[in-house]
Amino acid sequence: MSGKPKLVTCGLPYTNGLCHIGHLRTYVPADCYVRYLRRAGEDVLFVCGSDNHGTPIVVSAEGAGTTPRAFSEKYHTHFKETFEKMGVIFDHFGMTDDPTNHARTQSIVKRLIDRGYVYAEVINQSYCTTCKRSLPDRYVEGTCPHCGKHARGDECDQGCGRHLEPGEILEPTCTVCQTKAETRQQEHYFFKLSTFKEYLLDYLKDLNGTINAKNYAIGWIENELHDWCITRTMDWGVRFPGNEDLVVYVWVDAPIGYISFTEEWANAHGDDWRRFWCGDGEVTHFIGSDIIYHHCIFWPALLHAAGYGTPDAVVASGMLKVEDQKFSKSRGYVVWANEDYLDVNLPADYLRYYLLSYTSHTKELNFSWKAYQERVNNELVNTLGNFMYRSIYFAEEKLGGIPATPPKEEIFDEIRRTRDLVDPAFRAFEFKSGVDAIMGLATFGNNYIQKNAPWKLLKTDKAAAEGVIADCLQIVKALALFLEPVMPEKASLCWKMLGYETPLASHHLDEADTPLEGVTLRKAAPLFEKIDDEQYAVLEATFTRRVDEAKKKQERHEVKKEMLTIDEFGKMELCVGRVLEAEAIKGSKKLLRITVDIGSEKRQVVSGIAPYYKPEELEGTLVVMVTNLEPATIFGVESRGMILAAGDEAALLIPNREVEPGTRIR
Ligand code: 2FM
Ligand code: ZN
Repeated sequence: MSGKPKLVTCGLPYTNGLCHIGHLRTYVPADCYVRYLRRAGEDVLFVCGSDNHGTPIVVSAEGAGTTPRAFSEKYHTHFKETFEKMGVIFDHFGMTDDPTNHARTQSIVKRLIDRGYVYAEVINQSYCTTCKRSLPDRYVEGTCPHCGKHARGDECDQGCGRHLEPGEILEPTCTVCQTKAETRQQEHYFFKLSTFKEYLLDYLKDLNGTINAKNYAIGWIENELHDWCITRTMDWGVRFPGNEDLVVYVWVDAPIGYISFTEEWANAHGDDWRRFWCGDGEVTHFIGSDIIYHHCIFWPALLHAAGYGTPDAVVASGMLKVEDQKFSKSRGYVVWANEDYLDVNLPADYLRYYLLSYTSHTKELNFSWKAYQERVNNELVNTLGNFMYRSIYFAEEKLGGIPATPPKEEIFDEIRRTRDLVDPAFRAFEFKSGVDAIMGLATFGNNYIQKNAPWKLLKTDKAAAEGVIADCLQIVKALALFLEPVMPEKASLCWKMLGYETPLASHHLDEADTPLEGVTLRKAAPLFEKIDDEQYAVLEATFTRRVDEAKKKQERHEVKKEMLTIDEFGKMELCVGRVLEAEAIKGSKKLLRITVDIGSEKRQVVSGIAPYYKPEELEGTLVVMVTNLEPATIFGVESRGMILAAGDEAALLIPNREVEPGTRIR
């Protein structure tokens, strides 16, 4: 155990959407880790907050007809309350738009400027002529220049996952009005990230946490490390010191929120935030694996450059599936924390248990209501709950309280063995192994009470029955202590039933193998309830309905997308033309250069019909042409229009009687 002060944080949720199982997959393990360290007597601070800046929030607030601040406050409260209901208790939950973070961000950026790590450069940036504004980040979508997949703003979220710098996206369009974006030049500021290559490789060698974070980051750095544009043209955000027309990129002020929230907590508690950020404190970030790049590359380089301490550990959770499909809000493969779970009165602890015990923290977790039902019924109700309830009930009801007989040494051994498994597992972020070890102790207890059958012994040998129950109660006590980080509410209820007046969270794990003394048992009540088949069917039906609705919505969207309005069709200029000349284009087997009389003028077009027509058979033919296509240069020849043809073998569309070249097609 290290005596250093520890700071644990969770990736900050954006304030433009509701809390879902994807968030909980990271927050619950972080909370479990903090609770465990505290039970082991360590000095731990747990801070988080909401991420309020960035374009998605501005876009959503605009859509909702409100300000980004008001919009953010609503979601901020939502997250704060939801986390509390899930038993995820932060010492402080701040907002990145609050004054502390504006001030801390400006102070850090100024330092970077003063130390010569920031330079200005004129860059090409997307601009929407309809909305009349620059298009930073999520205001623009297009094609990823690295992998060719559809990408949004600052990240290739459906393809290679790369961070995209302003102006990098190809074929940019405005996400608000779908206008094709123009490119305009503007001066922006860059952080000299590329100069930190060696530093980062060295830093990452010693980074603790999960191996996925470290390896992924090393891979990125070895392949490519570019300077990083840290300003954006917009109003919402932290003003860039030195150019008030710009704000800093959200990925600068968001992680700085970790410092600001520590600072806010310290100010409220007469403490010093520097203990964690400028001293020998240890900082551990829990994040989703999609933001490893930001936490293992941008963030440590920025902290180091500004003269702050760097994180000691980055813990990245693995991927998530819902009912065997990749987690997706738009496709309905999601579990909403409130609507689907807390609002239908499902206990937070059951979901915590599922998330912590399903698989290793870095592996793929699949949530399914069937597996949830089975695990709750078999593991929590039949094994753990059954054992706890039977032990307390029997002692209280049949023996009149805790027997005076001391528990056997082999029972203490079993408890110590469990702790020896749980401790390294939780410290290494292997939550499943830790929970498995605790559940191993519950199974041991359950088999022990079953095998020794104190209810039978009581008839023949009361002292022996008391001995068995004393053993069982000791195991129950240890289980409550071990389980507090996993299922805080249920463990506390059990603790109260054992007769403790002081909160479980004020006790140390070392008490697991001290005898149960000085307390009076309370009346036993079952701690866990089964999820019956009827309830399961309702949960499953809600999920299926959501997926069906998402599918229908998608289909409606696609149909709508494929339909043209009459006005849109009217924009296309189609007319009849007569081919005057046609000739092969040198070096191409497919292309012909064709000159067409379209009444008002002669047009040159390049057409890929060479395999099906000899140039001379085309001369004099009437054809149908699109005349208002943007000019293009094909094989070095300018083409100003398109001759229409049907099918793979290019059957030309020809009017069925003679009409004048230039006749419009309607
Ligand atoms: O990806 C996200 O959801 C971000 N809002 C996380 C920010 S974490 C941090 F660095 F502030
Ligand atoms: Zn890509």
